[in-house]
Amino acid sequence: MTQTNRSQWDLGRFVQTLTFFEVIPFVGWIQRFMSGSQDSQVVPTGEKRVGVVLVAGATGGVGRRVVQRLTARGYKVRSLVRNAEKAKEILGDSVELYVGDITKPETLTLEMMADVTAVICCTAVRVQPVEGDTPDRAKYNQGIKFYQPEIVGDTPEAVEYLGVKNLVEVAAKHFATIPADEKLIFDFVHPSEELKRIWGAVDDVVMGGVSQSEIRFVEDTALFTGCVSTANSGGFASVRTKNFEPALNLSGYQGIKLRVRGDGKRYKCFIRIDTKWDGTAYSYSFDTVSNTWMDICIPFADLTAVFRAKTLKDAPKIDASRIASLQLMLSKFEYDGELNPRFTPGGFALQIESIKAYGGAKLPQFILISSAGVTRPGRPGINLEEEPPAVRLNDQLGGILTWKWRGEESLRHSSIPYTIIRPCALTEETGVQSLTFDQGDSIKGKVSRDSIAELCLQVLEQPQACNATFEVKAEGGTPSSSGNSFSHLQPD
Ligand SMILES: NC(=O)c1ccc[n+]([C@@H]2O[C@H](COP(=O)([O-])OP(=O)(O)OC[C@H]3O[C@@H](n4cnc5c(N)ncnc54)[C@H](OP(=O)(O)O)[C@@H]3O)[C@@H](O)[C@H]2O)c1
Repeated sequence: MTQTNRSQWDLGRFVQTLTFFEVIPFVGWIQRFMSGSQDSQVVPTGEKRVGVVLVAGATGGVGRRVVQRLTARGYKVRSLVRNAEKAKEILGDSVELYVGDITKPETLTLEMMADVTAVICCTAVRVQPVEGDTPDRAKYNQGIKFYQPEIVGDTPEAVEYLGVKNLVEVAAKHFATIPADEKLIFDFVHPSEELKRIWGAVDDVVMGGVSQSEIRFVEDTALFTGCVSTANSGGFASVRTKNFEPALNLSGYQGIKLRVRGDGKRYKCFIRIDTKWDGTAYSYSFDTVSNTWMDICIPFADLTAVFRAKTLKDAPKIDASRIASLQLMLSKFEYDGELNPRFTPGGFALQIESIKAYGGAKLPQFILISSAGVTRPGRPGINLEEEPPAVRLNDQLGGILTWKWRGEESLRHSSIPYTIIRPCALTEETGVQSLTFDQGDSIKGKVSRDSIAELCLQVLEQPQACNATFEVKAEGGTPSSSGNSFSHLQPD
């Protein structure tokens, strides 16, 4: 039934909407001032990472640097450690810890993997000088002067092979449902407090109408619900994000995927690159099936440029590298005066579990720090005199490199997209060095733990490193501003 009578328009709600989205920032400031609220406006950043990176061996020389760098770049980090007290001393109190031991598979649970988008494994069997080391492991860490080494504690087989294999197995179970070519943008299953303040309702009250909607976070989903009225020539309700600052860069992805459960109605998704409140948007209409979970794929190529519900014939295609905001809408109108064929005024409900980008290049989900030399013990023609100590002493050190290679193999044979980094001798030199990559396991040299930690972060965002194993050493000189080139790496 179409309501033609004039209904009471709500000025308060109109101002509230514009204030939430900072269209009238001054009013928002006054409101916060009057209420004494310290809650600064939450602005979503397009660089913000959703999900968690699990770092195993987080108390180690490389691991602690990986944790520090990830945290500094806005990643959420979970540190897999054996001893929480020791970990807090090294990593500080604010880092999320998960206590487990890779040699004890019962301690590596799917709970540990919750929300994990990537694993970085920096574990190692304990090696120290036969004469003993200082409590801060200064002799082991320095990597320059040679001390006669020995294994202490667990065997290389237990840590480097079986331990890594245990971690790979639990990760494989978890990643089986998380495609490596997708990027999570909004995870409503585990909504952060911040996320809850990013979305707000934009109803036809902004045009004089009286429709009402809201977004709530219930049952591990976002629930977009309300009542659409056609009174006062209105007829839409929507929820929209504040503008991303900086913009969200989804170039390289095919489009956006919504995981939704609807009520049989047709909804619209708007993607904006324009930061203006009421500017051009790129729209896609999708039908829901009542009470049924579905994945709605919205290819960037199929978006229709619109101003409100009017199509813009001459508008360029969307530039997916600078997405400013997202919006979900139930509207009486389709496009250019056409009506939404599935529209009825009244109550509606759309549940959203996640919003992802899909169809991107695969990124590594498991990064393993191994070692240069793992294939050299027993290699025909090898001159042990010229090899680094770990290769020469492989047998005395319980076959450390051979077991490391077996650990690598467990990852290569898993279903997880991975990168295996094989550093040459690790040093405590500070700063990121210019690096040389090689494949075939023949290079010798040194490289700083800082450089390896930084390399792990680069690899996380590097499709060209996917399913590749490579050795790395410092080449001297300062790193180029364009960073390391991964384009020559051959996949295994
Ligand atoms: N040293 C070198 O010159 C060199 C050269 C090439 C490659 N690598 C490799 O580079 C990687 C990083 O080396 P690094 O010097 O940073 O190592 P590290 O300082 O010895 O750290 C090893 C980490 O592994 C953890 N760990 C050991 N056993 C574990 C277990 N069962 N469960 C969970 N965590 C366990 C340790 O935890 P705790 O604190 O509890 O002991 C520690 O956090 C290692 O794979 C190493 O083999 C080293």
